[in-house]
Amino acid sequence: MSDIYPVPPDFAARAHVDAAAYDRLYRQSLDDNDGFWREQAAALDWIRPFTQVSDTKFDPADLRIRWFADGTLNASVNCVDRHLPAKADKPAILWQGDGEGESESRSVTWGELADKVNRLANVLKGLGVAKGDVVTIYLPVIPEVMVAMMACVRLGAVHSVVFSGFSAEALANRIEDAGAKVLITADEGHRGGRVVPLKHNADAAVAAQPSIRHVVVVRRSGASVPFTPGRDLWYDEAVAAAEPWCPPVEVGAEDPLFILYTSGSTGKPKGLVHTTGGYLVHAGTSWRVIFDWHEGEVFWCTADVGWVTAHTYKIYGPLLNGATSVMFEGVPTWPDSSRWWSIIERYRVNIFYTAPTALRSLMREGEAPVQRHDLSSLRVLGSVGEPINPEAWRWYHSVIGGGRCPIVDTYWQTETGAVLLVPIPGAVANKPGMAAKPYFGIRPVVVDAAGTRLDGVAEGNMCFEGSWPGQARTILHDHERFVLTYFAPYPGLFFTGDGGRRDEDGYFRITGRVDDVINVSGHRLGTVELESAISSHPAVAESAVVGFPHDLKGQGVFAYVTLKENIDESEALRREIVDWVRARIGAIASLDVVQWAPSLPKNRAGKILRRILAKVAANDFENFGDTSTVADPAIVGDIVLRRKQTLERESS
Ligand code: PRX
Repeated sequence: MSDIYPVPPDFAARAHVDAAAYDRLYRQSLDDNDGFWREQAAALDWIRPFTQVSDTKFDPADLRIRWFADGTLNASVNCVDRHLPAKADKPAILWQGDGEGESESRSVTWGELADKVNRLANVLKGLGVAKGDVVTIYLPVIPEVMVAMMACVRLGAVHSVVFSGFSAEALANRIEDAGAKVLITADEGHRGGRVVPLKHNADAAVAAQPSIRHVVVVRRSGASVPFTPGRDLWYDEAVAAAEPWCPPVEVGAEDPLFILYTSGSTGKPKGLVHTTGGYLVHAGTSWRVIFDWHEGEVFWCTADVGWVTAHTYKIYGPLLNGATSVMFEGVPTWPDSSRWWSIIERYRVNIFYTAPTALRSLMREGEAPVQRHDLSSLRVLGSVGEPINPEAWRWYHSVIGGGRCPIVDTYWQTETGAVLLVPIPGAVANKPGMAAKPYFGIRPVVVDAAGTRLDGVAEGNMCFEGSWPGQARTILHDHERFVLTYFAPYPGLFFTGDGGRRDEDGYFRITGRVDDVINVSGHRLGTVELESAISSHPAVAESAVVGFPHDLKGQGVFAYVTLKENIDESEALRREIVDWVRARIGAIASLDVVQWAPSLPKNRAGKILRRILAKVAANDFENFGDTSTVADPAIVGDIVLRRKQTLERESS
């Protein structure tokens, strides 16, 4: 069976970019990188045009990443105002709530969006928010999240969206790090028929972080929630009372647009800072090309607004292009596992973008939930967040896409801002599981551990040479960590933290993280972050966390836990620790396996030997490699024995 799925000829015929155009433009984009991005930048409305396209150098001793630096613009004007003449009455958002009742769906026109954005911007201004201030947003997937982001950037303020599934403690940490003065949240969110107590969490976070002076509360459920007069205000009342026009603030291309926190291999989550001009150019122009969006088409990205996927390709990409997008608050499996397919049918979705983990779990339900719905509107499918296994890819292609829709497997990161590798749908034939080819202006490089560049068919560490406009500029308050993490490992290159393989056709496959980050259901979790949450439990002396292959999640979380002296191992304590971590971070931080470890294997310098722990977690009990560094080999024996005993118990 051929593992190449050619571009359907009728698709290529009307695509923005076909194979010949891709080859030509890609070559041009490398030969004259500034020229390419200058042309792309013409897609934006600038207040003051830039004179220099790029000023960049990947030198750890003198890192420079500046794009369009002397240009000025306003993001909300580009995302909203300029579509008004043609589209004021057309839908910008087709919102579907968690439930299925009449009040659970809402269409928001460009005119309404603009009105709300202006009014909320005036509300925020009245609360003292000005250019450069950070506003934290902790909202479910409701239209107001888009309004809130756009209202911030209208003022030149910086949004920091925190995933509404994160706990109060995680929210508080992110508020503290960003020094936010205003928080925008909702009374409650709804997910899969369950209530998410957002205001309750927000209150707990604000109690711990008094930098927040005001909390704007969207009435999503209408539930009665605690309200602190003077500090809190209701979104609907404030917006109704506000002036309907707010002049957009002129900002520099290199002024910050947003902060987004993500997990790294060391320490606490880091706030990556994205700037205005470069990010908008890369997000807006790549969105149109990689999804091959044509005027009038309906786009749906299922990611939660708390992740970069949604920032770039659910919010900014569609808004910059004046596209109609679907927003869905709920989950794919509630009330049943045909929910997504019913939404595609109902809103006649043309372009659908989701994560492999969801596909794997829906695939388990068989084809019947899909067959109940008419998915003939679909034209392009997208995948993001983790490597897609060929089995899920084929199911997506044949069962969801009816065999006719190209799949764009988009490889990128919070740090990269927008796409780096992707099979542009009218141009590049699909190979299941491969993010395929570089986007324009992007130069992938595979290196070995010593930093030697590997040509041709090769597997190694995935790096990129030369800057691109969408990339993050720094980590908030920690530029040194930014330089050390991404630019110091292989001087002259940006290091992703991923492994990658180039095949004989020059196609790339991402093989997964090579650092201490675990990719659980397409969400990044840092092992250190998990370990500090586990080790803060009073019964725990020490812990070590590794990822292991998981059928549905891609990777699961495996925790080795050493208890304090005189504390007994028990099932109750195991459950308590699992709950403890979920409460500290959020439900995404679920420990899949907890194995008691009277001691952890370390080298003589006291460093935990994760390589060995990861092998045991993957039930690979051989080939531990060089174990001469293990200070006490008996500890490894004990860990293997315990794992084998658990497996025996589970299989009996
Ligand atoms: O390991 C890669 C994986 O997700 C990581 C980035 O995570 P995050 O910053 O949360 O952004 C996710 C969405 C852009 C990467 O380092 N990853 C992302 N997309 C893919 C992927 N792995 C394989 N294939 C992809 N298409």
